[in-house]
Amino acid sequence: MKRFEDKVAIVTGGGGGIGSAIARRLADEGALVVVSDVNADAADAVAAEIVAAGGSAIAIAADISRKEPCFGLIEEAFAKKGRIDILVNNAGINRRGNLLSLTDEDWHTSFAVNLDSMFHLCRAAIPHMVEAGGGAIVNTASQWGLYPAPNHIAYNTTKAAVAAFTQNLARDYAPHKIRVNAVCPGEIHTPMLEAGVRRSGRTIADLDKLVPFGRIGKPEEVAALVAFLASDEAAFMCGSLVEITGAQAVA
Ligand SMILES: NC(=O)c1ccc[n+]([C@@H]2O[C@H](COP(=O)([O-])OP(=O)(O)OC[C@H]3O[C@@H](n4cnc5c(N)ncnc54)[C@H](O)[C@@H]3O)[C@@H](O)[C@H]2O)c1
Repeated sequence: MKRFEDKVAIVTGGGGGIGSAIARRLADEGALVVVSDVNADAADAVAAEIVAAGGSAIAIAADISRKEPCFGLIEEAFAKKGRIDILVNNAGINRRGNLLSLTDEDWHTSFAVNLDSMFHLCRAAIPHMVEAGGGAIVNTASQWGLYPAPNHIAYNTTKAAVAAFTQNLARDYAPHKIRVNAVCPGEIHTPMLEAGVRRSGRTIADLDKLVPFGRIGKPEEVAALVAFLASDEAAFMCGSLVEITGAQAVA
């Protein structure tokens, strides 16, 4: 028996590095996956890849920085699949800068994509989960939300808020058997990380040396953790912030 047989899972940022790995992993384990991304082509490609590999997936494009598309995504997924068992709030952006170098737009867009999206998506999805008697929500926070790296004040602050949001939501909805947890990745090799590396003038090899484990992480390694947290094997995990960093303590 696969862990997610007949379960419906929505993955935001599903066209990106970590999100596509999560979508593939959940589908491999039997889930009917809704791959969502603001980049419609990327979401379509990941869904098509899953279907070609024998899995079940559809793509729904949505810009989750705004309330209406968040509700639209959940309602379209529910209308097409009839249930929502798992919501993975993974989409995110990383605007580099300190207090004075960031623009107002950087600050507000960071909050809209990284945090407000979770508020809206959870408000849309949780009534369906309550009605069904339970569900699992996994949020992608970041190690930098717990231990801030310099020059990323907007990103780090949104991720700290994601951690707080996760714990609050968990406490409020645990009585409904809705488990809410967050993963806090360190450096993971994705397009977002490659963009950051290019901006900083560093290389992947430089980052590998900063990690006591000897290398940065792979999206599939985060996906394995997300799958565990979304599964019944994590039945008593609710409100946990799980770091996955290769023992890297400070960025
Ligand atoms: N890569 C890392 O080292 C790392 C470390 C810690 C946390 N994270 C977090 O992991 C998550 C995934 O990041 P990634 O590294 O895979 O990056 P990525 O850039 O490869 O993927 C992010 C995805 O989110 C999508 N997205 C951006 N804005 C959106 C919007 N408004 N609406 C819908 N989708 C939108 C992008 O199109 C992209 O496909 C993010 O929340 C990120 O903050 C990444």
